[in-house]
Amino acid sequence: MEYSNGAVILTAFLLPIITYLLYTRTRDVRPRAASKLQLPPPTEVTNLMVYPIKSCHGISVPSAKLLPTGLDLDRQWMWVTYPDYRFLTIRNLAKMTLIRPVYDAETDTLKVTAPAPNSDDEKLQFEIPAHPTREWLSKNTEVVNATVWSSTTPAYCFSPDLTGSFNAFFGKEVRLVYKPPFSDSPRALGSNGAKAVLGREASTCFPDMMPILVASEKSMEELNSCLQAAEGLSIPITRFRPNIIVRGTKAWDEDTWKTLRIKPQSSDSGDLVLDVTQRCARCQVPNVDSETAEKHKTQPWDTLMKYRRVDEGIKYKPCFGMLCVPRGTGGKMEVGMRLEVMEVTDKHRYIPGF
Ligand SMILES: *[C@@H]1O[C@H](CO)[C@@H](O)[C@H](O)[C@H]1NC(C)=O
Repeated sequence: MEYSNGAVILTAFLLPIITYLLYTRTRDVRPRAASKLQLPPPTEVTNLMVYPIKSCHGISVPSAKLLPTGLDLDRQWMWVTYPDYRFLTIRNLAKMTLIRPVYDAETDTLKVTAPAPNSDDEKLQFEIPAHPTREWLSKNTEVVNATVWSSTTPAYCFSPDLTGSFNAFFGKEVRLVYKPPFSDSPRALGSNGAKAVLGREASTCFPDMMPILVASEKSMEELNSCLQAAEGLSIPITRFRPNIIVRGTKAWDEDTWKTLRIKPQSSDSGDLVLDVTQRCARCQVPNVDSETAEKHKTQPWDTLMKYRRVDEGIKYKPCFGMLCVPRGTGGKMEVGMRLEVMEVTDKHRYIPGF
């Protein structure tokens, strides 16, 4: 009798309660989780940008080689102070964006120009191989330790015989350094790209943090509509110095992207896969007009600060774009390719450090 009493109590009282609890919990949780974790429809790569010299003007290219370290030619060069080889940045020297590298595919060279001081039409300039051989490097450079933020890495430093005219542009003695994409001493990623977080060893040349920055036009349009309302202002997406620009399907959808696949529209082969490590926390560089080097006092920084402080790991900086690390050996990337989001996450959290 004890036994069946127990069964009756279980059936009559406990089961409905358990059922009710289960039902309300799943009802509350499930639809939210499902909609949040839904994969967006595919979108398209609309522009590819490389910035051969860190902090200097970018180049829009129809195609680029995706390497494990980032797009080929992207941030493989960098201006540094002399004699301590610390990176010079557009953050405190906006006019660096007036330094223009141009790539000549025929000769495989980079021609670098900058406005000469106190002259309207005179230009400083030099030319260097875009893919220098070891022999060329050993003849024309010396190895130094160059520093980006708190990360110090060996780099090839060009002789001032070649780049010395640019001292006049900077108003002090500077050097140009080069880090090849396949280096004997790779610059290992830190932050969310560190081996312990990413799960594999990865490296890059001279970007601040990660090999690739992806940005969405949809988000740019939304931000521009806020800037329009606030100041009658509209800025190009290249202010954020992204490498891969996609059309996007919904503003800020990229906040949850975790794994991306990029491939030709009409093919199932040649997949390029990117691991999205984190949101890109911004400084005031997007306030600098890339064409004129004029820095806006407040925008888009103020607007971004109002509603884009969206990452728990870096609460006092606004986010725009997603930082990525290529998987595998890479391959050819072209404007017009399809971008598919293979995985999304609500767990992105920025880990500071370089
Ligand atoms: C760079 O730094 C490392 C570590 O401090 C040192 O062993 C090496 O000699 C330095 N290289 C140069 C070229 O100064």
